[in-house]
Amino acid sequence: MASLTQLSSRASGEGWGGGATENGAHHQPRTEMIRIEKLGKTFTTADGVVTALENIDITIEQGEFVSIVGPSGCGKSTLLMCIAGLIEASAGSVMVGSRRVSGPFTELGIVFQEALLLDWRTVLGNVLFQIEMRGLDPKAYESRARELLTRVGLGGFEGKSPWELSGGMRQRVAICRALIHDPPLLLMDEPFGALDTLTREQMNVDLQRLCAQTGKTALFITHSISEAVFLSDRVLVMTPRPGRIIADLPIAFAAGTRRLSIRTTPEFAEQEKKIYSIFRSIGVLRDE
Ligand SMILES: Nc1ncnc2c1ncn2[C@@H]1O[C@H](COP(=O)(O)OP(=O)(O)OP(=O)(O)O)[C@@H](O)[C@H]1O
Ligand SMILES: [Mg+2]
Repeated sequence: MASLTQLSSRASGEGWGGGATENGAHHQPRTEMIRIEKLGKTFTTADGVVTALENIDITIEQGEFVSIVGPSGCGKSTLLMCIAGLIEASAGSVMVGSRRVSGPFTELGIVFQEALLLDWRTVLGNVLFQIEMRGLDPKAYESRARELLTRVGLGGFEGKSPWELSGGMRQRVAICRALIHDPPLLLMDEPFGALDTLTREQMNVDLQRLCAQTGKTALFITHSISEAVFLSDRVLVMTPRPGRIIADLPIAFAAGTRRLSIRTTPEFAEQEKKIYSIFRSIGVLRDE
């Protein structure tokens, strides 16, 4: 796994909404970031055993942007929590870099569906909370926090409270909080699900650019097929519970930053169609 220092230097040209460059993952030699083998997860509940995940095999290379789409309840969040070491797998293994995941670890950033900000802290204080939680010196990270906030369009909002922000702004703060320690890996669980369509589309463009420019490895969970196609190098499709991966589709667009205009191209529609037809074939979507 790349060290944080290596990533710091790679991330130094990082921008949110800056000019398009092609110095991202697509042209770098690839090494494995995540390897999941035969992963299973069962929960024991009052009503019996629930098998959330079964026999999951996934490999993600450094710098790849991979999305997971699947019906509600199929185990997407469970999978993400297993990768983050926040819940224990019942079977199989998860490797991140050269380490087998057996508990929480620090070289990752997580963004959840809800921004989960602390209302009694300022925007800046929320971003730096991540640093404090890791036992690091917040003073040393303050200028980076301010810079990240400016890059996501929140310059001038550092001293505001979370309840003074819109949903999209709150989620941008959550993304800064996930990136402040410059992790090589970003795990996102439907981060834009609660946003209006226009804000969501802008967040998609900005996130895609950020990841392409900094070479972050990203695993992104979404219900939106078009969001997955827009953002990803690969889309993994999951079955209803017990969740299994039934398709791993490469999304071929030119390397570098994607523009919203690709969404109206026949190639984009073709990629979406493939995913819709998989969901139809397993009965998740029905025309009648
Ligand atoms: N802590 C838990 N205890 C018992 N069952 C659980 C637990 N967490 C998840 N489950 C069950 O595991 C299955 C998968 O849940 P999970 O939250 O991973 O689904 P999901 O794909 O993220 O769904 P959604 O798209 O609605 O967020 C569900 O049937 C859920 O009820
Ligand atoms: Mg979920």
